[in-house]
Amino acid sequence: TLLDVIINNDLDFDGFGACEGTLACSTCHVIVPQAEFDRLPNKPCDEELDMLDLAYDLTKTSRLGCQIE
Ligand code: FES
Repeated sequence: TLLDVIINNDLDFDGFGACEGTLACSTCHVIVPQAEFDRLPNKPCDEELDMLDLAYDLTKTSRLGCQIE
């Protein structure tokens, strides 16, 4: 997942991925450009959509980084 990439490369995004991918936060919220959003292999599950509803500045191409494969 995108969260794995950030962790494995020791990238420092303060607070990103607070729940470590358990769909219990929205700190991994990312806004994906439309072209890339359309090419993502997996669609958001109901649990991701519920958590996205709590995300700041939600857009129609928002995803949770811990769920993007
Ligand atoms: Fe918490 Fe993605 S890291 S929902």
